[in-house]
Amino acid sequence: MILPIVAYGDPVLRKKAKNINPDYPGLEPLIHNMFETMYGASGVGLAAPQIGKSIRLFVVDASPFAEEDPSLEGFKKVFINPEILDEEGEEWAFNEGCLSIPDVREDVDRQPEIKLRYQDENFDEHEEAFKGLAARVIQHEYDHIEGVLFTDYLAPIRKTLIKGKLMNIAKGKVKTDYPMKFPTAKLKRR
Ligand code: NI
Repeated sequence: MILPIVAYGDPVLRKKAKNINPDYPGLEPLIHNMFETMYGASGVGLAAPQIGKSIRLFVVDASPFAEEDPSLEGFKKVFINPEILDEEGEEWAFNEGCLSIPDVREDVDRQPEIKLRYQDENFDEHEEAFKGLAARVIQHEYDHIEGVLFTDYLAPIRKTLIKGKLMNIAKGKVKTDYPMKFPTAKLKRR
């Protein structure tokens, strides 16, 4: 089932998400639906807050980047209760976008290597290093469960330039080819 993706401006995107345990209700169908929602929107990652659940869970499939980095072919993973243990290296810029912030793409600087502790969909624990685009996708999704968005990293001038776009997204004035949930209900009542 394709779920609506929560748009910029919804408070759930600003919350620090909570850890879950294996008896979290409906986890298996939730993960399935998150992949379906992500593929439906042509995304490479989707975090639970983006479908309105403030829990530490995200899914990624970086296969679309396999042309640039063949090691990403079939890089499909579920991350539960992840914790970034280390980030290393010289920051590099990559043009990022976000399914919650349609039509906004900006260069973001991040470090190229991370070490992550996480649980997979079977709650088996892993400690693993990722680099390059794999690390990039994970860092972006990890930010979502910390309540951070990629636009937070932009220089003040860039932030000013996209402010109008962000306001329009929060008001639902944006067209996407995937379903979204806008925080308009409350705004309209004023
Ligand atoms: Ni995002």
